[in-house]
Amino acid sequence: MKPVTLSNSVDGFPVAPSVAVVPVTVPELHRMKRAGERIVSVTAYDFSFARLLDRAGVDLLLVGDSLGMVIQGHSTTLPVTLEQMIYHTAAVVRGARRAMVVCDLPFGVCHGGGVAVMDAAVRVLKESGCQGVKLEGGVRMAETIRFLSTHQIPVLGHVGLTPQSVHAFGGFKVQGRGGDAERIVEDALAVAAAGAFAVVLEGIPAPLAQRITEQLEIPTIGIGAGRQCDGQVLVMHDMLGLYEEVVPRFVKRYLPENTVVQAVGRFVEEVRGGVFPGDEHAFSE
Ligand code: KIV
Repeated sequence: MKPVTLSNSVDGFPVAPSVAVVPVTVPELHRMKRAGERIVSVTAYDFSFARLLDRAGVDLLLVGDSLGMVIQGHSTTLPVTLEQMIYHTAAVVRGARRAMVVCDLPFGVCHGGGVAVMDAAVRVLKESGCQGVKLEGGVRMAETIRFLSTHQIPVLGHVGLTPQSVHAFGGFKVQGRGGDAERIVEDALAVAAAGAFAVVLEGIPAPLAQRITEQLEIPTIGIGAGRQCDGQVLVMHDMLGLYEEVVPRFVKRYLPENTVVQAVGRFVEEVRGGVFPGDEHAFSE
């Protein structure tokens, strides 16, 4: 792949003249799996955070329909629309220089099957500039994944605890325990055979995720699926502790508790105490 050579300032970021950014692509993710290099993914929903996550080295920015919960405040992902996904994905794409950007197809879009999903995916890629779409479901979505992949649209599969099935599951419940394990294996195999470039394994037992990871040639990206997956993804608001409505057991928090509340609290204090703005933040005549 041809490296993109950057000048010493790109979009305001200081960059050493010799630094070359090689964008993450589908073949690169496959190379990483073969080389045993872990893939790092975080969800992103806007330009500024996409930029920070990209700069921190995240390989795959996933514009998840989790935005229905962490951005919009719904209790599930179901209300999110295709227009909203395109809007957020376009913003994330503008913030990503190296990371690959993938957009979730929201609830309802995939029920129309083949051509309807293709139309939605084409809109997503054309209007946002991202590099792929993610859709939930295994065996039942295999034909659709095959159709998109045949037409060169990179598809990220998603099996296990698929949040769009929350009502059918009776809540956000771990899937694939005991006798249910084979169903998840079949789903993952079907997604891979249909041509998905990778698959998210969500909310399944770690040994099951390990077994699937060993069987598949495409990378597995785990969330609540143990450490043996080829990569890991977390919802950004969960890992930074910015969303407190539901905190799944698999989430690790990477910002000290109350960091944001404390920062805003200082601002409140300084405004009330006449400390902010100081002379250095004010304009002279
Ligand atoms: O919507 C989302 O953010 C997701 C990831 C957590 C996998 O589907």
